[in-house]
Amino acid sequence: MTTGGSDGTGGEAMVARLDAELRIELADLEARALLRRRRRVDGTQGPRIELDGRRVLCLSSNNYLGLADDPRLIEAAGAALLAQGASGASSPLISGHMAAHAELEELAAEWLGSEAAVVFGSGYHANIGTIGALTGPNDAVFSDVLNHASLIDGCRLSRATVRIFRHRDVDHLDELLRATPARRRLIVTDSIFSMDGDAAPLDEIVELAERNGAHVMIDEAHAVGVFGDDGSGLANALGLGARIAIRMGTLGKGLGSYGAFVAGSRALIDVLVNRARAYVFSTALPPAVVAAATAAIGIARAERERRARLWANARALHGALRAAGLRVEPLSSPIVPLILGSAERALAVSARMLEAGVFSPAIRPPTVPEGTARIRLTPLATHSSEEIATAARVIVEAAREIID
Ligand SMILES: Cc1ncc(COP(=O)(O)O)c(C=O)c1O
Repeated sequence: MTTGGSDGTGGEAMVARLDAELRIELADLEARALLRRRRRVDGTQGPRIELDGRRVLCLSSNNYLGLADDPRLIEAAGAALLAQGASGASSPLISGHMAAHAELEELAAEWLGSEAAVVFGSGYHANIGTIGALTGPNDAVFSDVLNHASLIDGCRLSRATVRIFRHRDVDHLDELLRATPARRRLIVTDSIFSMDGDAAPLDEIVELAERNGAHVMIDEAHAVGVFGDDGSGLANALGLGARIAIRMGTLGKGLGSYGAFVAGSRALIDVLVNRARAYVFSTALPPAVVAAATAAIGIARAERERRARLWANARALHGALRAAGLRVEPLSSPIVPLILGSAERALAVSARMLEAGVFSPAIRPPTVPEGTARIRLTPLATHSSEEIATAARVIVEAAREIID
């Protein structure tokens, strides 16, 4: 069978044409300092990693509690691997809902103090699946302009009317709510914003939602394990858990594994199980990954000292950068962004840091808005005080060298 004629549109010619077009697109990204390259990590994720064959301090992962290489998670994953095998093998609605998933869902619900929970393949899946299952063309979704890409994509896929409110601006949200009648109105926000580390004004959002008859969904990706006495997230830390209908938490950040859960009422979870396309039409997580997350929740609840060390490290790093005269916003979470402006500048600071043995890549558009390229610094509970002091010194020297 032919796929084209003799005019250069045959199969091979088309492959070559696409390749040539893509090379031009890549060259354009490179020219604008926006090309991404992956680096290889050997060994495990921890406070230090082996990056492209070199041991460096890692100040860029979301492994906040340092659980990714914890022997107890590895042991739990190993035991599940032996008992339940390597794969979920099908969608949870076919035969993929295994003992490991059922146990994690029960534990996550209990931890958050909700009626029920459902485990999704990832935070990305959870966000697109949940927004799409709850809203459609007759509904409206209200979304903070700095929400994570997975919430943005969830809004787009839902086919609901989407209203974007200014970052953390409840007056703007109020205005949009009043001006947008709909069958169902859903406010979605990160609880801790992934690239800025600041917190959504959850108390005001909840009140506004209640006054306007709207529902609230929060993304606690950077808050589970990190906030609250028992690590169950920012909503619970603020005493708001019971007033927020939908809470999403990820398992691949503070909990050191992979996947995500959504917690809420039994009816909410049953609707998601029936209707969230990212749940229904995707293979269940491997039980080993799920069992590691279950072990991590136990540790995150019990070992408060981990959270204390995480926060102490964040305060030490933040304080050292401020004391050196670098402009950093007040600390709201363990995420410390150093905003540098242009992509070129952020790349230069990151490269200089790496030369001195500290890894944190430049975060550039479209991950962050134009003109706000940055180094996003994330200390872990498992960094030593000396490592934080070393990192701070290296970051300050690199920033001064490039900024001056
Ligand atoms: C705020 C936020 N939500 C959702 C996600 C997606 O979660 P996952 O990595 O599990 O897909 C991330 C990060 O990746 C995030 O930072």
